[in-house]
Amino acid sequence: MAELTAVQADITTLAVDAIVNAANSSLLGGGGVDGAIHRAAGPELLDECRQLGGCRTGEAKITKGYRLPAAYVIHTVGPVWNGGHRGEPDLLASCYRRTLEIAAAHNLHSLAFPCISTGVYGYPVAPATAIAVATVKLFLHKSPHNIEKVIFCCFSTGNLTVYRELLGELTDSIT
Ligand code: APR
Repeated sequence: MAELTAVQADITTLAVDAIVNAANSSLLGGGGVDGAIHRAAGPELLDECRQLGGCRTGEAKITKGYRLPAAYVIHTVGPVWNGGHRGEPDLLASCYRRTLEIAAAHNLHSLAFPCISTGVYGYPVAPATAIAVATVKLFLHKSPHNIEKVIFCCFSTGNLTVYRELLGELTDSIT
């Protein structure tokens, strides 16, 4: 079973095979983690993203990582929270599942997720975290892959606490 862990860090600093970007459907950058990743990766990332023709909510697309320590960025578009009765839970689960499918298809061994949709898109942290952990665990158990490590990269201690409770592990924070 792959190692699942939660840390508090800036995802752009993590030297994993792929970091995951909480993007918008244009894939042309934005604020939050999307902005941080584009700033750290440099302008070539946007150049590659321009070729991708956008991304639907719940879908994911892979690019190179350029100036990032991570070799790849897997861009996924989370749902905007609208009360939870417009398919948001399934769409959020799809972000994690499609990202893992792409990571497995590229034979990646390690990846780091941000807390998708819990910022600008307003998804409440506790249900989003439950979906993230359950979807990742199910994929790692059921689907073929060579993934050895999945990091849930929290930017705030609040999110880290929620992951820590769910994963039942002591987490270290990489500053
Ligand atoms: N490293 C890790 N996590 C980060 C970082 C970072 N450098 N910067 C922000 N975060 C965290 C936020 O604190 C939040 O917990 O990422 C989580 C996701 O928040 P957002 O980045 O706002 O993403 P999301 O809620 O999915 O909204 C996506 O925001 O930036 C735009 O272009 C993006 O339109 C899209 C929308």
